[in-house]
Amino acid sequence: MIHPLFQRVQNEFFQRFGQAPAAIVRAPGRVNLIGEHTDYNDGFVLPMAIDRALWIALRPRDDWRVLVHSLEFSRPADFELGETQRGKGWPEYLRGMAWSLGQDGYSLAGFEGVMSSDIPVGAGLSSSAALEMATAKAFSLVGGWPFEPGKMAKAGQRAENQWVGANTGIMDQMISASGRAGHALLLDCRDLSTQHIPVPAGTAVVIMDTATRHSHTDSGYNERRGQCEAGARFFGVSHLRDVDLQIFQARGHGLADLPYRRARHVITEDQRVLEAGLAMTNGDAPQMGRLMNESHISMRDDFEITNDELNIMVRLAQAQPGCYGARMTGGGFGGCAVALVDQPAAEEFSMAVARAYEDETSLVPSIYICQASNGAEVVSG
Ligand code: GLA
Repeated sequence: MIHPLFQRVQNEFFQRFGQAPAAIVRAPGRVNLIGEHTDYNDGFVLPMAIDRALWIALRPRDDWRVLVHSLEFSRPADFELGETQRGKGWPEYLRGMAWSLGQDGYSLAGFEGVMSSDIPVGAGLSSSAALEMATAKAFSLVGGWPFEPGKMAKAGQRAENQWVGANTGIMDQMISASGRAGHALLLDCRDLSTQHIPVPAGTAVVIMDTATRHSHTDSGYNERRGQCEAGARFFGVSHLRDVDLQIFQARGHGLADLPYRRARHVITEDQRVLEAGLAMTNGDAPQMGRLMNESHISMRDDFEITNDELNIMVRLAQAQPGCYGARMTGGGFGGCAVALVDQPAAEEFSMAVARAYEDETSLVPSIYICQASNGAEVVSG
Protein backbone atom coordinates (compact mmCIF):
# COMPACT_ATOMS: atom_id res chain seq x y z
CA MET A 1 0.00 0.00 0.00
CA ILE A 2 1.31 3.45 -0.85
CA HIS A 3 1.65 5.63 2.23
CA PRO A 4 -0.54 8.78 2.14
CA LEU A 5 2.47 11.01 2.87
CA PHE A 6 4.40 9.40 0.02
CA GLN A 7 1.55 10.41 -2.23
CA ARG A 8 1.31 13.89 -0.76
CA VAL A 9 4.97 14.77 -1.24
CA GLN A 10 4.97 13.18 -4.68
CA ASN A 11 1.91 15.15 -5.82
CA GLU A 12 3.13 18.41 -4.32
CA PHE A 13 6.52 17.90 -5.95
CA PHE A 14 4.85 17.39 -9.30
CA GLN A 15 2.78 20.56 -8.90
CA ARG A 16 5.77 22.69 -7.95
CA PHE A 17 8.42 21.30 -10.26
CA GLY A 18 6.39 19.90 -13.15
CA GLN A 19 7.95 16.45 -13.07
CA ALA A 20 8.27 13.43 -10.81
CA PRO A 21 10.87 13.59 -8.00
CA ALA A 22 14.18 11.78 -8.51
CA ALA A 23 13.72 10.11 -5.11
CA ILE A 24 11.53 10.01 -2.04
CA VAL A 25 13.14 9.44 1.35
CA ARG A 26 11.62 8.96 4.77
CA ALA A 27 13.00 8.92 8.31
CA PRO A 28 10.86 7.88 11.29
CA GLY A 29 10.19 9.32 14.73
CA ARG A 30 10.75 7.06 17.69
CA VAL A 31 9.41 5.95 21.01
CA ASN A 32 11.79 4.81 23.70
CA LEU A 33 10.62 1.60 25.38
CA ILE A 34 13.13 1.89 28.23
CA GLY A 35 16.45 3.60 29.04
CA GLU A 36 15.85 7.27 29.77
CA HIS A 37 18.63 9.84 30.22
CA THR A 38 21.10 7.00 29.90
CA ASP A 39 22.36 7.86 26.40
CA TYR A 40 24.49 10.86 27.41
CA ASN A 41 25.81 8.76 30.30
CA ASP A 42 27.29 6.37 27.70
CA GLY A 43 24.72 3.76 28.76
CA PHE A 44 22.02 1.62 27.17
CA VAL A 45 18.67 2.44 25.54
CA LEU A 46 15.92 0.40 23.87
CA PRO A 47 13.98 2.63 21.47
CA MET A 48 11.78 1.67 18.54
CA ALA A 49 11.27 3.55 15.26
CA ILE A 50 7.55 4.25 14.78
CA ASP A 51 5.23 4.36 11.80
CA ARG A 52 5.16 8.14 11.86
CA ALA A 53 7.81 9.71 9.74
CA LEU A 54 9.11 12.69 7.85
CA TRP A 55 9.15 12.37 4.06
CA ILE A 56 11.11 14.36 1.47
CA ALA A 57 10.54 14.15 -2.31
CA LEU A 58 13.58 15.62 -4.02
CA ARG A 59 15.72 16.12 -7.08
CA PRO A 60 19.33 17.26 -7.29
CA ARG A 61 20.18 20.83 -8.32
CA ASP A 62 23.25 21.75 -10.26
CA ASP A 63 24.23 24.52 -7.87
CA TRP A 64 24.83 24.85 -4.10
CA ARG A 65 21.32 25.77 -3.11
CA VAL A 66 19.02 23.70 -0.87
CA LEU A 67 15.34 24.56 -1.23
CA VAL A 68 12.75 22.47 0.61
CA HIS A 69 9.07 23.38 0.88
CA SER A 70 7.14 22.02 3.82
CA LEU A 71 3.50 21.01 3.71
CA GLU A 72 3.22 21.93 7.39
CA PHE A 73 5.17 25.21 7.61
CA SER A 74 4.63 28.20 5.34
CA ARG A 75 8.28 29.29 5.13
CA PRO A 76 10.59 27.03 3.07
CA ALA A 77 14.13 26.00 3.99
CA ASP A 78 16.21 27.94 1.49
CA PHE A 79 19.97 28.31 1.83
CA GLU A 80 23.32 28.03 0.10
CA LEU A 81 25.68 25.25 1.16
CA GLY A 82 28.62 26.66 3.06
CA GLU A 83 26.64 29.49 4.68
CA THR A 84 27.51 29.79 8.33
CA GLN A 85 24.86 32.34 9.30
CA ARG A 86 22.31 30.86 11.71
CA GLY A 87 18.61 31.58 11.71
CA LYS A 88 15.55 30.31 13.50
CA GLY A 89 12.91 27.60 13.13
CA TRP A 90 12.75 24.24 11.39
CA PRO A 91 15.11 25.09 8.46
CA GLU A 92 17.97 25.17 11.00
CA TYR A 93 17.86 21.38 11.20
CA LEU A 94 18.64 21.14 7.48
CA ARG A 95 21.26 23.87 7.64
CA GLY A 96 22.78 22.33 10.75
CA MET A 97 22.90 18.94 9.05
CA ALA A 98 24.61 20.43 5.98
CA TRP A 99 27.14 22.16 8.23
CA SER A 100 27.76 19.03 10.28
CA LEU A 101 28.20 16.73 7.26
CA GLY A 102 30.56 19.32 5.81
CA GLN A 103 32.62 19.16 9.01
CA ASP A 104 32.98 15.41 8.44
CA GLY A 105 34.23 16.00 4.90
CA TYR A 106 31.25 14.64 2.96
CA SER A 107 30.85 16.14 -0.49
CA LEU A 108 27.58 18.03 -0.53
CA ALA A 109 25.43 19.03 -3.47
CA GLY A 110 22.29 21.15 -3.65
CA PHE A 111 18.79 19.70 -3.95
CA GLU A 112 15.21 20.87 -3.99
CA GLY A 113 11.99 19.27 -2.94
CA VAL A 114 8.96 18.99 -0.75
CA MET A 115 8.62 17.56 2.73
CA SER A 116 5.79 16.47 4.99
CA SER A 117 5.64 14.81 8.40
CA ASP A 118 3.05 13.18 10.62
CA ILE A 119 5.28 13.17 13.71
CA PRO A 120 3.79 15.58 16.24
CA VAL A 121 6.29 18.36 17.04
CA GLY A 122 7.46 18.74 20.64
CA ALA A 123 5.68 15.60 21.84
CA GLY A 124 8.91 13.73 22.57
CA LEU A 125 8.69 11.53 19.47
CA SER A 126 11.85 12.93 17.86
CA SER A 127 10.48 14.92 14.97
CA SER A 128 13.79 16.80 14.85
CA ALA A 129 15.96 13.66 14.65
CA ALA A 130 13.70 12.45 11.83
CA LEU A 131 14.25 15.72 9.97
CA GLU A 132 18.00 15.42 10.46
CA MET A 133 18.14 11.81 9.26
CA ALA A 134 15.86 12.42 6.27
CA THR A 135 18.09 15.36 5.34
CA ALA A 136 21.20 13.19 5.70
CA LYS A 137 19.57 10.57 3.48
CA ALA A 138 18.83 13.24 0.87
CA PHE A 139 22.42 14.52 0.97
CA SER A 140 23.80 10.99 0.68
CA LEU A 141 21.70 10.41 -2.43
CA VAL A 142 22.62 13.62 -4.23
CA GLY A 143 26.25 13.41 -3.03
CA GLY A 144 26.58 9.77 -4.14
CA TRP A 145 27.99 8.41 -0.87
CA PRO A 146 26.61 5.71 1.45
CA PHE A 147 24.34 6.50 4.36
CA GLU A 148 26.12 4.83 7.28
CA PRO A 149 23.71 4.95 10.23
CA GLY A 150 26.26 5.45 13.04
CA LYS A 151 28.10 8.20 11.17
CA MET A 152 24.89 9.91 10.13
CA ALA A 153 23.54 9.74 13.69
CA LYS A 154 26.70 11.34 15.06
CA ALA A 155 26.54 14.08 12.44
CA GLY A 156 22.89 14.64 13.39
CA GLN A 157 23.71 14.85 17.06
CA ARG A 158 26.42 17.42 16.31
CA ALA A 159 23.92 19.48 14.29
CA GLU A 160 21.49 19.33 17.18
CA ASN A 161 24.09 20.12 19.87
CA GLN A 162 26.24 22.67 18.12
CA TRP A 163 24.04 24.25 15.46
CA VAL A 164 20.55 24.15 16.95
CA GLY A 165 21.83 24.35 20.53
CA ALA A 166 20.01 21.42 22.17
CA ASN A 167 22.43 19.37 24.24
CA THR A 168 20.83 15.97 23.56
CA GLY A 169 22.33 12.46 23.38
CA ILE A 170 22.68 10.05 20.44
CA MET A 171 19.59 7.87 20.92
CA ASP A 172 17.08 9.66 18.72
CA GLN A 173 19.30 9.95 15.66
CA MET A 174 20.53 6.35 15.99
CA ILE A 175 17.07 4.85 16.07
CA SER A 176 15.78 7.10 13.29
CA ALA A 177 18.81 6.06 11.20
CA SER A 178 18.78 2.35 11.92
CA GLY A 179 15.37 1.10 13.08
CA ARG A 180 13.99 -2.13 11.67
CA ALA A 181 10.32 -3.02 11.07
CA GLY A 182 8.91 -5.22 13.84
CA HIS A 183 11.93 -4.62 16.08
CA ALA A 184 13.19 -2.40 18.86
CA LEU A 185 16.88 -1.48 18.99
CA LEU A 186 19.12 -2.29 21.93
CA LEU A 187 21.82 0.35 21.63
CA ASP A 188 25.05 0.71 23.53
CA CYS A 189 25.56 4.48 23.44
CA ARG A 190 29.29 4.13 24.14
CA ASP A 191 30.37 2.21 21.06
CA LEU A 192 27.08 2.47 19.12
CA SER A 193 26.82 -1.30 18.81
CA THR A 194 23.25 -2.38 18.14
CA GLN A 195 21.02 -5.40 18.43
CA HIS A 196 17.61 -5.54 16.75
CA ILE A 197 15.14 -7.31 19.05
CA PRO A 198 11.62 -8.30 17.92
CA VAL A 199 8.71 -6.66 19.71
CA PRO A 200 7.08 -9.56 21.62
CA ALA A 201 4.49 -11.37 19.49
CA GLY A 202 0.89 -10.59 20.41
CA THR A 203 1.70 -7.24 21.99
CA ALA A 204 1.06 -3.67 20.89
CA VAL A 205 3.11 -0.58 21.71
CA VAL A 206 0.79 2.30 22.56
CA ILE A 207 1.95 5.91 22.75
CA MET A 208 -0.10 8.22 24.96
CA ASP A 209 0.48 11.92 24.43
CA THR A 210 -0.46 13.89 27.56
CA ALA A 211 -0.91 17.11 25.52
CA THR A 212 1.62 18.76 27.84
CA ARG A 213 4.88 19.93 26.26
CA HIS A 214 8.59 20.07 26.93
CA SER A 215 11.46 21.86 25.23
CA HIS A 216 15.04 20.57 25.15
CA THR A 217 16.38 24.05 25.55
CA ASP A 218 14.52 23.93 28.89
CA SER A 219 16.81 24.02 31.85
CA GLY A 220 15.52 20.69 33.26
CA TYR A 221 17.26 18.51 30.69
CA ASN A 222 20.58 20.32 30.90
CA GLU A 223 20.38 20.41 34.68
CA ARG A 224 20.02 16.62 34.76
CA ARG A 225 23.03 16.28 32.47
CA GLY A 226 25.06 18.44 34.81
CA GLN A 227 23.99 16.38 37.82
CA CYS A 228 24.99 13.16 36.06
CA GLU A 229 28.39 14.61 35.16
CA ALA A 230 28.90 15.61 38.78
CA GLY A 231 27.93 12.06 39.81
CA ALA A 232 30.51 10.60 37.42
CA ARG A 233 33.18 12.93 38.85
CA PHE A 234 32.32 11.76 42.35
CA PHE A 235 33.02 8.16 41.35
CA GLY A 236 36.13 9.16 39.41
CA VAL A 237 34.84 7.91 36.03
CA SER A 238 34.10 9.66 32.74
CA HIS A 239 30.42 8.54 32.65
CA LEU A 240 27.93 6.97 35.06
CA ARG A 241 27.88 3.96 32.74
CA ASP A 242 31.10 2.91 34.44
CA VAL A 243 29.52 2.73 37.89
CA ASP A 244 27.80 -0.60 38.48
CA LEU A 245 25.30 -1.32 41.24
CA GLN A 246 27.94 -2.83 43.50
CA ILE A 247 30.20 0.20 43.33
CA PHE A 248 27.20 2.45 43.79
CA GLN A 249 26.03 0.57 46.86
CA ALA A 250 29.51 0.57 48.36
CA ARG A 251 30.37 4.22 47.75
CA GLY A 252 27.18 6.08 46.84
CA HIS A 253 26.34 7.01 50.43
CA GLY A 254 29.06 9.65 50.22
CA LEU A 255 26.76 11.64 47.90
CA ALA A 256 24.15 14.11 49.13
CA ASP A 257 20.52 12.98 48.74
CA LEU A 258 19.75 14.64 45.40
CA PRO A 259 22.88 13.61 43.45
CA TYR A 260 22.50 10.16 45.04
CA ARG A 261 19.01 9.76 43.59
CA ARG A 262 20.02 11.14 40.19
CA ALA A 263 22.88 8.65 39.94
CA ARG A 264 20.71 5.82 41.23
CA HIS A 265 18.23 6.40 38.42
CA VAL A 266 20.88 6.19 35.71
CA ILE A 267 22.69 3.19 37.19
CA THR A 268 19.53 1.15 37.83
CA GLU A 269 18.05 2.21 34.48
CA ASP A 270 21.06 0.84 32.60
CA GLN A 271 20.53 -2.43 34.43
CA ARG A 272 16.83 -2.43 33.54
CA VAL A 273 17.57 -1.85 29.86
CA LEU A 274 19.84 -4.89 29.72
CA GLU A 275 17.19 -6.96 31.49
CA ALA A 276 14.56 -5.60 29.13
CA GLY A 277 16.69 -6.66 26.17
CA LEU A 278 16.68 -10.20 27.55
CA ALA A 279 12.97 -10.13 28.35
CA MET A 280 12.16 -8.98 24.81
CA THR A 281 14.48 -11.57 23.31
CA ASN A 282 12.57 -14.22 25.26
CA GLY A 283 9.24 -12.71 24.19
CA ASP A 284 8.51 -12.19 27.89
CA ALA A 285 5.99 -9.33 27.81
CA PRO A 286 5.07 -9.50 31.53
CA GLN A 287 8.73 -9.09 32.55
CA MET A 288 9.20 -6.28 30.03
CA GLY A 289 6.12 -4.58 31.48
CA ARG A 290 7.41 -4.88 35.06
CA LEU A 291 10.68 -3.24 34.04
CA MET A 292 8.78 -0.41 32.35
CA ASN A 293 6.79 0.16 35.55
CA GLU A 294 9.97 0.23 37.65
CA SER A 295 11.56 2.64 35.19
CA HIS A 296 8.65 5.03 35.62
CA ILE A 297 8.97 5.01 39.41
CA SER A 298 12.69 5.71 39.08
CA MET A 299 12.05 8.67 36.75
CA ARG A 300 9.27 9.98 38.98
CA ASP A 301 10.99 9.68 42.36
CA ASP A 302 14.74 9.66 41.70
CA PHE A 303 15.30 11.55 38.45
CA GLU A 304 12.21 13.76 38.86
CA ILE A 305 11.45 14.30 35.19
CA THR A 306 7.75 13.43 35.16
CA ASN A 307 4.94 15.94 35.55
CA ASP A 308 1.50 15.31 37.10
CA GLU A 309 -0.06 14.53 33.73
CA LEU A 310 2.55 11.89 32.88
CA ASN A 311 2.05 10.28 36.29
CA ILE A 312 -1.72 10.28 35.83
CA MET A 313 -1.47 8.83 32.31
CA VAL A 314 0.85 6.05 33.46
CA ARG A 315 -1.32 5.19 36.46
CA LEU A 316 -4.45 5.04 34.28
CA ALA A 317 -2.68 2.90 31.68
CA GLN A 318 -1.30 0.47 34.26
CA ALA A 319 -4.82 -0.02 35.68
CA GLN A 320 -6.33 -1.14 32.35
CA PRO A 321 -6.84 -4.80 31.52
CA GLY A 322 -4.24 -6.12 29.11
CA CYS A 323 -1.55 -3.60 30.08
CA TYR A 324 1.81 -5.25 30.78
CA GLY A 325 3.48 -2.01 31.83
CA ALA A 326 3.73 1.72 31.19
CA ARG A 327 6.16 4.57 31.70
CA MET A 328 6.85 8.09 30.56
CA THR A 329 9.11 8.19 27.51
CA GLY A 330 11.61 10.68 26.08
CA GLY A 331 13.22 13.66 27.74
CA GLY A 332 10.40 14.19 30.25
CA PHE A 333 8.72 17.26 31.78
CA GLY A 334 5.75 16.67 29.44
CA GLY A 335 5.08 14.80 26.21
CA CYS A 336 4.28 11.12 25.97
CA ALA A 337 4.02 7.93 27.93
CA VAL A 338 4.30 4.46 26.38
CA ALA A 339 2.58 1.20 27.26
CA LEU A 340 3.08 -2.41 26.26
CA VAL A 341 -0.37 -3.92 25.82
CA ASP A 342 -1.86 -7.27 24.92
CA GLN A 343 -2.60 -6.86 21.19
CA PRO A 344 -6.32 -7.84 21.25
CA ALA A 345 -6.93 -5.39 24.11
CA ALA A 346 -5.14 -2.46 22.46
CA GLU A 347 -8.16 -0.68 20.92
CA GLU A 348 -10.25 -0.88 24.07
CA PHE A 349 -7.19 0.09 26.14
CA SER A 350 -6.65 3.22 24.04
CA MET A 351 -10.25 4.36 24.30
CA ALA A 352 -10.50 3.67 28.02
CA VAL A 353 -7.23 5.49 28.83
CA ALA A 354 -8.23 8.48 26.68
CA ARG A 355 -11.61 8.77 28.42
CA ALA A 356 -10.21 8.41 31.92
CA TYR A 357 -7.37 10.88 31.23
CA GLU A 358 -9.73 13.49 29.87
CA ASP A 359 -12.07 13.05 32.85
CA GLU A 360 -9.26 13.52 35.30
CA THR A 361 -7.25 16.32 33.66
CA SER A 362 -9.66 18.02 31.21
CA LEU A 363 -6.89 17.62 28.61
CA VAL A 364 -7.53 15.79 25.35
CA PRO A 365 -4.78 13.19 24.83
CA SER A 366 -3.67 11.64 21.53
CA ILE A 367 -3.23 7.89 21.64
CA TYR A 368 -1.39 5.96 18.92
CA ILE A 369 -1.16 2.21 18.59
CA CYS A 370 2.09 2.06 16.69
CA GLN A 371 4.11 -0.36 14.62
CA ALA A 372 7.88 -0.68 14.72
CA SER A 373 9.15 0.65 11.41
CA ASN A 374 12.34 0.86 9.36
CA GLY A 375 14.90 3.59 9.91
CA ALA A 376 15.81 6.19 7.26
CA GLU A 377 15.31 4.78 3.78
CA VAL A 378 14.65 5.55 0.15
CA VAL A 379 11.09 4.56 -0.70
CA SER A 380 9.97 3.69 -4.18
CA GLY A 381 6.32 3.84 -5.17
C1 GLA B 1 15.72 13.32 24.55
C2 GLA B 1 17.11 13.37 23.95
C3 GLA B 1 17.75 11.98 23.97
C4 GLA B 1 17.67 11.35 25.35
C5 GLA B 1 16.26 11.44 25.90
C6 GLA B 1 16.15 10.96 27.31
O1 GLA B 1 14.87 12.58 23.73
O2 GLA B 1 17.06 13.83 22.64
O3 GLA B 1 19.08 12.07 23.53
O4 GLA B 1 18.60 11.93 26.22
O5 GLA B 1 15.75 12.76 25.85
O6 GLA B 1 16.37 9.59 27.36
